[in-house]
Amino acid sequence: MEHGTITQDNHAALWHGRFEEGPDAQAVSFETSIFVDERMALDDIKGSRAHAEMLGYAGIITKDETDSIIAGLDSIEKDLNDGTLKIDYSAEDIHSFIEATLTDRIGEPGKKVHTGRSRNDQIALDERLYLCRFVPDLQNRILTLIETLTQIAEKHTKTIMPGFTHMQHAQPVTLAHHLCAWSWMLTRDADRLSDALKRIRISPIGACALAGSGLPLNRKYEAKQLGFDEITMNSLDSVSDRDYCIETVSALSLVQMHLSRFCEEVVLWSTTEFSFIDLSEKWSTGSSIMPQKKNPDFAELIRGRTGRVYGDLIALLTMMKGLPLAYDRDMQEDKQSLFDACDVVLSCVEVFTKMIATASWNEAAMAAACEGGFLNATDIADYLVRKGMPFRTAHGVSAKAVRLAISKNCRLEDLSQEDFKSCSPLIESDIFEVIPPAACVNARKTDGGPAESKVMEQISALKTFCAEKRRSF
Ligand code: ARG
Repeated sequence: MEHGTITQDNHAALWHGRFEEGPDAQAVSFETSIFVDERMALDDIKGSRAHAEMLGYAGIITKDETDSIIAGLDSIEKDLNDGTLKIDYSAEDIHSFIEATLTDRIGEPGKKVHTGRSRNDQIALDERLYLCRFVPDLQNRILTLIETLTQIAEKHTKTIMPGFTHMQHAQPVTLAHHLCAWSWMLTRDADRLSDALKRIRISPIGACALAGSGLPLNRKYEAKQLGFDEITMNSLDSVSDRDYCIETVSALSLVQMHLSRFCEEVVLWSTTEFSFIDLSEKWSTGSSIMPQKKNPDFAELIRGRTGRVYGDLIALLTMMKGLPLAYDRDMQEDKQSLFDACDVVLSCVEVFTKMIATASWNEAAMAAACEGGFLNATDIADYLVRKGMPFRTAHGVSAKAVRLAISKNCRLEDLSQEDFKSCSPLIESDIFEVIPPAACVNARKTDGGPAESKVMEQISALKTFCAEKRRSF
């Protein structure tokens, strides 16, 4: 047997009536899902509580029966929370475990909790309830990461560093500007999750197995008890789709993609060659053979786990691609992927936040890196544009200056005024005011640009975003 405690006798409790023979032991361990779905125990209880309230409200069970079911569920919840009740892994799934425990505790009324309900709509509800807890939790952690980055950015609005395209020196920016770029990506990640949540927060319960019920269930009342404003409009759709899981994992994949790319920079920036960042010892590892090593393993692990999250997304999409309506057992396989993606992304956001918050930044190395690579070449062209030269011509003049500097093995700043004059008579001595890296950065005052005043605007907008979303998530 794969999982020690399962027995054939107590396993098939919910559906064994039609069978004369018990299932093969291997069949039991092959199909059971409690090891994966146990994490939805509290969601399952919440769903059953609302279902019992609805059954009572609709007059399908008596008030006493409702009260007894609710009291039973409350006691199960309490005992699970304080650890006095342990999950019985011989149950087929979390629904069977909660229902069997309820009937154990309260007797006959417990057998009524599944009236007008199927595990098909129950599981869809449990997943949605689980995501209603998970998504805001993750969103708040994303906000903490944005706040952390913003705090670092505030201290580095004057820290000049090279900006790159093709991983080649492009134009100077500041560390603050660079960190804000990642922060904006994370704001969209947080918003995307809110958007997914809109479609998660719709109640499928009452769809039953696939075709609703002949009993007078009140689906809208039950949805209200659950805190949902809407119900699904088609019973077949309610039990057949997992698009809310896929949409969530898709949003999670984007969060993870952003972290992974940022981690790539952290790895690169902690090399001896770059030395832009120095990770704290708390968030670094050493080598078993090379005594000098301080490795950025956490950034690498986050980057590496990204493959797992994408794999989860592809697994879900592929699992669903050939399924006809309505419920198919294939769909049980959604939870491994969903929960794996949730766990990986949540822990990565948290670990990344701590890693980046405790890192130190090497301003001197960033400044030194701005010295080579002609980051200010565009500024020479812009200088000439301001003097009336067409940009394409100015581009050629600046390229000539770059070639001259290459031939003299010096920086553009080191060329003499005669050198510049030989490139264009329009260049005067004030060229030396516009080409230091700090001057290049602060000239870029376009909205969204790296000039200090503009980055301060970004930082304040990011702070407002976090403060407003904290209240709404
Ligand atoms: N464990 C199942 C799942 O996760 C619950 C629904 C079971 N329904 C059924 N007809 N066997 O999808």
